[in-house]
Amino acid sequence: LSTHSDDSTSTAPSYNFADFVSHSDPGFALHGTGRLLRTGIAGQDAPRIVGGDGPWLFLADGQRVIDATNTPAPLGHRHPRIVEAVRRAAGEAPCLDEGWATVSRETAAETLLGTAFAGEDWVGAVRFALTGSEANDLALSLCQALTGRVPLVTRERAYHGMVGLARDVTVQPQWHGGISDTTTDIRPVPRATEVRVLPFPTSRLGQGLQLTSGEAESILSHADDKLDQAAAVIVDYTQGGCYGAPSYQDVLARKARAAGVLWIADEVVTAFGKTGGGHWFNFQRGRERPDIVTLGKPLGGGLLPVAAVVVSNDVLEQIGDGSWQTYSALRSNELGAAAATEVIRVIEEEDLIRRADELHDVILPYMSKLADHPAVGRIDGHGLHWWIEIGDEDWRTWTGVAESPDVTEAVVKRTLEAGAMVATSAERNVILITLPLIIRHEQVASLCEAVDEGLKAVEI
Ligand SMILES: Cc1ncc(COP(=O)(O)O)c(C=O)c1O
Repeated sequence: LSTHSDDSTSTAPSYNFADFVSHSDPGFALHGTGRLLRTGIAGQDAPRIVGGDGPWLFLADGQRVIDATNTPAPLGHRHPRIVEAVRRAAGEAPCLDEGWATVSRETAAETLLGTAFAGEDWVGAVRFALTGSEANDLALSLCQALTGRVPLVTRERAYHGMVGLARDVTVQPQWHGGISDTTTDIRPVPRATEVRVLPFPTSRLGQGLQLTSGEAESILSHADDKLDQAAAVIVDYTQGGCYGAPSYQDVLARKARAAGVLWIADEVVTAFGKTGGGHWFNFQRGRERPDIVTLGKPLGGGLLPVAAVVVSNDVLEQIGDGSWQTYSALRSNELGAAAATEVIRVIEEEDLIRRADELHDVILPYMSKLADHPAVGRIDGHGLHWWIEIGDEDWRTWTGVAESPDVTEAVVKRTLEAGAMVATSAERNVILITLPLIIRHEQVASLCEAVDEGLKAVEI
C-alpha cells in the first residue's frame, strides 16, 4: 500500500480540536447532553475523537486506537489522494446546484460506471445524491412512479435509512425515526406507505452464502403474496448481521420480475468490496442483476457526503424521453464528485477489491476463535464487515425502547482500553466491526486481541 503512513509515522493532526472545545466553552460537549443532539449510536460515555489517520483514530485523551467502526471510509482517514483531490476541487470548483453538467460530475459518473461497474452492461446511468437514505428514498419513489403502485417490500431486520420512503422500509425495532426514551415510551414516525416484510435467513460464521436455491425457495415460499402489486423490493446484504446469500437474491429477483416489481439492491454498506468475494458489489455474487443499485457511504471516501442511484438500461427505457423530476441544490456536489472519482481510482489502481477478499481469509480465523468466547452467541461476517452478538437474545423481542445497552457498552469500553474502537450498532447485544480496505494484517491481529479482551467485560 503506497498510500499511507505506516504505524510508526502515523501522527495526530496538528490542530487540537479538544483544546479548542475546552478553551472556548467548557460547557460544550460533542455528544451526550451538550448542544449537539446525539443520535443514540454513541453512548453517553463515548470518547471525544480529535482526528484520524489511515485505520487509526486519535482520542482527546491522547490515545491512538484502531478504528473498527469505519463504515464510510474505505481508504481510511485522511487519505492523501482524497485530501488532495478535495483540496484542489475546493480551490477551483464553481458553486452550482444539481441542474448543471460539469466536467467533474461527468467524470465521476463515467468513473463509477466505467470502473466500478465495468462489465455490467445492463447499467444505464447514475443520479448522484448526498446520503444513502436519500438515494434509497429516490430509488423507491422512482419505482412507485414507474409502476404506478404504492406498496414496498423489504426484508426483516432491514435498515435502509432515515429519510422518507427509506425510513418506511427500515423495519429494525429501534430505528423508527421517532423518539425512544428509556422507559416504555416510543413515539415512532408513522409510515406513509404500505410496507411488506419478507423473511431473511440468519446464519453463523461461514454458512450463510451456501444457502441452496431450494432452501431460498422455501424461505421465500410466501413471497409472491408480498410482491403482489408492489412497486419495489429493496434488499441489503449486511443489516442485522444477516449476510444475504446469492441464492436468496436470485430467487427473489426472479419472483420480483415475474410480478412486475422492480428490484433495488441496497449496496450503501457493501459497495466497493466491503464484504469481500473479489467483487466491487455484493449483488455480483449472484447471477441475477438488479433494476437499480443504491450507493452511499464509501463513495465520498467518508470525507464528503456522496450517494448514488444507478439505474439499468431497462429503467432508462421506461423513463423514455421523460425527465426524472427530482432535484436538489447540493446533490452532485463538486467536492463530492472529485472525492468519488479519486476513491474509485485509488481502489482500482491499488487492487483493493482483491485485497478485501484476501483480508477475509486473514480475519476469518480470528473470528472463529472469538466465536468460542463464552460471551458470544453468534458471529457472522464477510470481508471487512463482522457482526458479534453477545448472548442469545432474539432480536425480535426488542421493543425499540432506548434501553441502555449496558453489556455492549461494557465491551466497547474494555475494547477501547485495549486499543480498538468498536461500535454497538445501537442494538442491545451487538458489536459491529467494520474496517477499511487498507487495514494491515498486524492491525487486524491487534484489533482481534482487543475485542477478545473487551468480551471479558461480559459476566457469564
Ligand atoms: C444498508 C443501508 N442502507 C442505507 C443506509 C443509509 O445511509 P445513510 O446513513 O448515508 O443515510 C444505511 C446506513 O447505515 C445502511 O446500512
